[in-house]
Amino acid sequence: GFFIGTAVAGGGHHEDQPYPDPFSSDQPYRNVLAKEFNSVSAENQMKWDFLRPEPGVYRFGPADDIVAFAKRNNQVVRGHTLLWHSQNPAWLTEGGYTKAQLKQILRDHIRTVVGRYKGKIQQWDVANEIFDDQGVLRSQDNIWIRELGPGIVADAFRWARQADPKAKLYFNDYNVEGINAKSNAYYALIQDLLAQGVPVDGFSTQGHLSLRYGFPGDLTDNLRRFARLGLETAITEVDVRMDLAPGATPTPEQLAKQAEYYQRMLDGCLSVSSCNSFTIWGFVDKYSWVPVFFPSEGAATIMWDDFSRKPAYHALRDSL
Ligand code: XIL
Repeated sequence: GFFIGTAVAGGGHHEDQPYPDPFSSDQPYRNVLAKEFNSVSAENQMKWDFLRPEPGVYRFGPADDIVAFAKRNNQVVRGHTLLWHSQNPAWLTEGGYTKAQLKQILRDHIRTVVGRYKGKIQQWDVANEIFDDQGVLRSQDNIWIRELGPGIVADAFRWARQADPKAKLYFNDYNVEGINAKSNAYYALIQDLLAQGVPVDGFSTQGHLSLRYGFPGDLTDNLRRFARLGLETAITEVDVRMDLAPGATPTPEQLAKQAEYYQRMLDGCLSVSSCNSFTIWGFVDKYSWVPVFFPSEGAATIMWDDFSRKPAYHALRDSL
């Protein structure tokens, strides 16, 4: 009943990923993926910019491949994501659509995508990162909320439920491991939505950590308060980055600290009964998003480039 997952890298194209698609070209990568995990998440392949290259067009190939791989290997799939401010195609954000058209486009997208994978997705991140770190709704940079108002978030959950009644429907965000302004905003919003009968099933925290900022406090208290609302919880995108000069190797101290952070995240999840899955955001440094997005940090995953195991891998194993 507990799932250990990873994001699946590549699977198509991405200008942000300066390497060939490992999912289709790296057999050792696929072997580890099949063997070490019982849950997989599409790192990019179910996002709008992947699925929707042109208006009215759905390009399902890369996402289908991941779902088929998971099935062959007895893995569940986390769907990521339906409503987000980022990675939306230009035809959508610059298309000059009316509000009525945008609502229609989102409804069509959710029905089509969630419907296609009906029965094959364990959890959907229906809404991703809708609050900023102050707990303010992203009503400018999120096109859906800006154009259609906050009620569109409830609509998204309702449309997803209709398209796949068994998939668990989640809010997902970063910097919500602990109790803070942002997680408080989710707590208040979800309470409100549940009172209105909106089908929200889960709250998940991504878990992108950095040794620079320390380990977040209150993880278990935070997860437990969402559980008391009747929700499932999950940790969905764990990685632990560290300061690293280009070409440098982490010190033993950094690796030990990293192992400790991974283990504390997993232990936190395991100690809260509502927390049903722990997913890392890639398992090998050479395919990690971290050095691309955080230029002076790296080495954030649990394996070296040859798939040998870091202390963090062993720390996770020890907790299971
Ligand atoms: C990242 C991917 O890992 C990158 O390959 C991509 O270029 C940008 O997005 N929070 C999320 C994920 O919810 O979708 C992000 O994934 C990482 C932060």
